[in-house]
Amino acid sequence: MTALRFRRLTAADIPAASELLGLGMRDNPTHVQAFGDDPERRRCALTAMFAPFMHRQAVNGVVLGAFIDGELVGVAGLSLPGCCQPALMDKLRALPALFAASGPRGLWRVYCWTRIWKKRDAQIPRHGHLGPLAVAPKHQGQGIGSALMQRLCDELSARRLVGYLETDLAANVRLYRRFGFNVIACELVMGVTHWFMEL
Ligand SMILES: CC(C)(COP(=O)(O)OP(=O)(O)OC[C@H]1O[C@@H](n2cnc3c(N)ncnc32)[C@H](O)[C@@H]1OP(=O)(O)O)[C@@H](O)C(=O)NCCC(=O)NCCS
Repeated sequence: MTALRFRRLTAADIPAASELLGLGMRDNPTHVQAFGDDPERRRCALTAMFAPFMHRQAVNGVVLGAFIDGELVGVAGLSLPGCCQPALMDKLRALPALFAASGPRGLWRVYCWTRIWKKRDAQIPRHGHLGPLAVAPKHQGQGIGSALMQRLCDELSARRLVGYLETDLAANVRLYRRFGFNVIACELVMGVTHWFMEL
């Protein structure tokens, strides 16, 4: 019988968490647009992009992991007010691996996409920023993402914070609506619809 457990991740867990995020989010439409058709390149680019940011989030915010029999199968992050945007050092650390995986075109696309997110983020007063969130592909659709979301929403409520997130899939909008999030804006980013949601 499998046992699903949850715990807060620390800096030591971040390499495994970044790998899982890279794999879990590899096929999202935004990442296909940014990093191209090769799934392995997308996985590498995302893992490189997430590693420094997740490290900071584990230290300054909340990163939760879901485990089945000791194996990490889901990751969800919450950035606390003032800490949502990647720091300059995060960008510089990710740059070489991101460049190797996606080239100058990928870098430019990431810049354009994150600039839009940053501009919208700045319009939301003091908030807890949810994301990234991913479940390992073979475990998706089994309630793990919802259980992680519930725990992050409990964190928001305990800290009396407005919640905010972005997503690029209609199925995810449905998921987030179940936790009380409402769509506050939509925008095309690299030809992909992005939904901006608030709780
Ligand atoms: C989104 C995600 C974290 C949800 O976790 P999960 O454990 O699969 O979700 P749950 O089983 O708790 O809940 C299922 C609901 O999640 C949504 N969902 C989104 N992607 C899904 C997927 N690939 N498989 C199943 N459900 C998915 C649907 O709303 C679904 O409800 P429905 O069956 O009524 O349509 C996970 O599917 C995932 O990692 N997807 C790829 C990465 C991603 O899009 N991350 C979020 C970025 S904002």
